[in-house]
Amino acid sequence: MKVHEVTAAKKVAGAQAFFGQYIHDDSVKYVFSPQQASDLGIQSHLRVCYDLNGIVGAAHFTTPFEDAKQALDSGAPEALVVEFLRKYRMLYNLAVREDMRGQGIGTALLDAVDAGARTQGADAVIGIADGDLARLERFYSRHGYQVLPVGASLCLDVRGDRMVFPIDIVPGKEVQWFRKLLQH
Ligand SMILES: CC(C)(COP(=O)(O)OP(=O)(O)OC[C@H]1O[C@@H](n2cnc3c(N)ncnc32)[C@H](O)[C@@H]1OP(=O)(O)O)[C@@H](O)C(=O)NCCC(=O)NCCS
Repeated sequence: MKVHEVTAAKKVAGAQAFFGQYIHDDSVKYVFSPQQASDLGIQSHLRVCYDLNGIVGAAHFTTPFEDAKQALDSGAPEALVVEFLRKYRMLYNLAVREDMRGQGIGTALLDAVDAGARTQGADAVIGIADGDLARLERFYSRHGYQVLPVGASLCLDVRGDRMVFPIDIVPGKEVQWFRKLLQH
């Protein structure tokens, strides 16, 4: 299935509504049009698959602006955070319409995210798995991602410095970091 790079504001809004059906956390509100993202000084990228009924699946990735802000707030040097933003992309949202799962659409979208991040010069993609963790771990591992144990912090090497990103533990809800180094 063809994966489209989507930038028009109306299509971006459509993808945001689509994510809202399948992803029930705050990350959905960060799906920005290129103009909104540029006004905020971040990048926000969308890849979308369509059929005759509309959106079949979509993926959204960005510069890891939330984590960068947290790092700055906790005293990380600005130059380190700038390099972190250059080096990493955050996969915020990935979803496929329920009736179309298991046909390789999620795989095509994930490949498109990896390819887009690589083209942008990023070295790695990171993200947080939230949902059916056993299946998500299989899905991401199969595509070359390392899935960290539930609750484990993400430790990244940036310019020889170590940046540590804990993961929020919400009672009754398990989440885990995943990451993939991109081959250039
Ligand atoms: C995860 C998801 C995007 C995969 O899309 P897909 O088109 O079914 O993926 P593919 O056909 O390329 O690969 C199938 C694999 O996806 C995973 N998968 C399928 N349905 C899933 C579900 N409901 N939840 C989690 N993972 C699922 C499984 O690993 C499956 O392989 P398996 O059947 O051998 O276990 C899709 O299941 C989905 O939208 N899930 C709900 C939203 C979600 O959990 N998003 C990820 C948040 S980190």
